[in-house]
Amino acid sequence: MKVVGFIETFVFLLSLSACLKLSFAVSTPCALRPSPYGSVCVCNVTYCDYLDPMSPVGVDGFVLTSSSKMGLRFSSKLGQYSDKTVVVKDYAEQNEIIQEPMVVLLNRGNRIEKLESRASKRKVTIKVERKTKYQKIVGFGGAFTGAVSHILEGLPHELQDAVYQSLYSKKGIGFTMMRMPIGGCDFDLEPWAYNELPEDDTNLSNFTQLHYLDEKKIKQIERLKSVANIQNIKILAAAWSPPKWMKTRKSWNGLSFLKKNYYQTWADYHLKFLELMEAKNMPIWAITTGNEPLNGVFGWVFVHFMSLGWTPSSQAKWLADNLGPTIRNSKFKDVKIFSNDDQRYTFPFWFKAMNESRKESINYLDGLAMHWYWDEYFGPSLIDEAHELMPDKLIFNTESCIGDKPLQTHGPELGSWERAEKYAHSYLEDLQHSFNGYIDWNLILNEQGGPSYVDNFVDSPVIVNVTSGQEIYKQPIHYVIGHFSKFIPEGSIRIEAERSNINIVTAAFERPDGTISCVFFNSAQVEVVVTLADSIRGNIEITIPPKSLHTIEYN
Ligand SMILES: *[C@@H]1O[C@H](CO)[C@@H](O)[C@H](O)[C@H]1NC(C)=O
Ligand SMILES: *[C@@H]1O[C@H](CO)[C@@H](O)[C@H](O)[C@H]1NC(C)=O
Ligand SMILES: *[C@@H]1O[C@H](CO)[C@@H](O)[C@H](O)[C@H]1NC(C)=O
Ligand SMILES: *[C@@H]1O[C@H](CO)[C@@H](O)[C@H](O)[C@H]1NC(C)=O
Ligand SMILES: *[C@@H]1O[C@H](CO)[C@@H](O)[C@H](O)[C@H]1NC(C)=O
Repeated sequence: MKVVGFIETFVFLLSLSACLKLSFAVSTPCALRPSPYGSVCVCNVTYCDYLDPMSPVGVDGFVLTSSSKMGLRFSSKLGQYSDKTVVVKDYAEQNEIIQEPMVVLLNRGNRIEKLESRASKRKVTIKVERKTKYQKIVGFGGAFTGAVSHILEGLPHELQDAVYQSLYSKKGIGFTMMRMPIGGCDFDLEPWAYNELPEDDTNLSNFTQLHYLDEKKIKQIERLKSVANIQNIKILAAAWSPPKWMKTRKSWNGLSFLKKNYYQTWADYHLKFLELMEAKNMPIWAITTGNEPLNGVFGWVFVHFMSLGWTPSSQAKWLADNLGPTIRNSKFKDVKIFSNDDQRYTFPFWFKAMNESRKESINYLDGLAMHWYWDEYFGPSLIDEAHELMPDKLIFNTESCIGDKPLQTHGPELGSWERAEKYAHSYLEDLQHSFNGYIDWNLILNEQGGPSYVDNFVDSPVIVNVTSGQEIYKQPIHYVIGHFSKFIPEGSIRIEAERSNINIVTAAFERPDGTISCVFFNSAQVEVVVTLADSIRGNIEITIPPKSLHTIEYN
């Protein structure tokens, strides 16, 4: 080792503390374990991987954090922009697994896949132009469903804390937002709502305190805030279904709408929830007009969980005459209202139709909430149209997960980098199209991808071994989300990052502290040489491995 100057010493100390090789600063590295579809990072009651936030050292410094299909998980490198070149070694090379450096054999499922790591390097230039600014970022998060609460309850305290810290602390992936169902959802042990009894009770006389399931959740979130050291979580709450007596068809799911005589009651129900949550010191930041309204119109053919049907015109009427005025004339007038919490294909027609039937309805909205499930078939131009029509409204993704489609595995594919890549594409695409934030679905699920009262099993970024209750598995999806959530804090502004060709996908941000975070993604089976050309800092050449995602932070 050549000892020169402050940087090397600093890196050396960080490396020492992490017992890792020189120039890799990781607080505690991932305990990587092969799994059926790739590999996962294992946490148990005594061990979990974390990465303390690092700042670029000096005006010329950078921090480069990398994850890859082969096994890099938040592998960090400190360096100087003036070094001009940097090479990110893949997991196998870092860990001296490769004998033959040209070809790496990866065991993926039952299939042996050849990864030509050095064959035909590709090149690309990312031009970062700081003067061209776009949307401001509000935050990132996941959903605290009944399923999440139930799984946590069964875990030893050390593992509960590992979940909280992995997701919401600065040394984890730094979430600051959370979606929360009002009443039950598909990820619950059974459907439920407030004031199921007495029926036909317009006064909601039995909605005077929180349900024990919500009381339990609040205690868990209090613990989460304390161990993750986060004062404020922006909670976005959404109802799946009202109590059955408010609906045209008295069932949790199926073709069913709100009865007209309960329009105000349903608005009051939302206000009640805001009041009771605030009384428990768990204020709600935003509500939506309800989860996936089209499930109660035609989606029920496939979707068998709690829903409430709305058409744009019935929702516009409810929003303009009931929900909007009820919230805005209350103590909770600043709580944000989002619509329509459904798929991209409803944009922008839903809002145009609302506007046509009740113009003032749109004025009550602070934001547009979108679910990702059909994004592959409906392009981002729909978002652009919606943004152009309503440029002053926030745009959020409020739900994403994999495993819902007929040809997919209905549950986790433990360790899948392919599934993580879908997330990388989605985050980058949405951020390039005006999104202010992104909230994923269940924060954690069990090995089966549940529990779900309708057996709607899907994947989650973190899978808990509920059989032993002794391990959690952080999947590649978790790190991919973290490449955004950990490095793009609230108040960051997206800036221009133009790529010279399609060899990588990228997005760049200027943070409130002036640091730049640039995320870039190589989905190819070959190495890519990325020239980062920053309008102030100049050029640096970064060689990245096949199938890898990176965030570089610099001043
Ligand atoms: C917990 O994980 C660490 C790191 O992988 C390992 O050394 C330790 O043996 C594990 N403990 C248990 C009880 O499995
Ligand atoms: C109020 O709700 C509780 C719990 O759901 C139920 O047991 C009780 O019967 C309800 N009270 C009335 C008056 O319906
Ligand atoms: C609601 O409360 C009012 C007065 O508090 C009462 O007159 C009315 O009958 C109640 N309505 C129902 C449906 O219980
Ligand atoms: C609502 O309609 C008015 C014209 O009546 C139009 O100017 C406005 O752009 C529309 N807004 C939306 C969101 O469709
Ligand atoms: C969960 O733990 C049990 C007991 O240690 C083990 O047999 C099982 O393979 C684990 N499940 C997964 C998905 O790793």
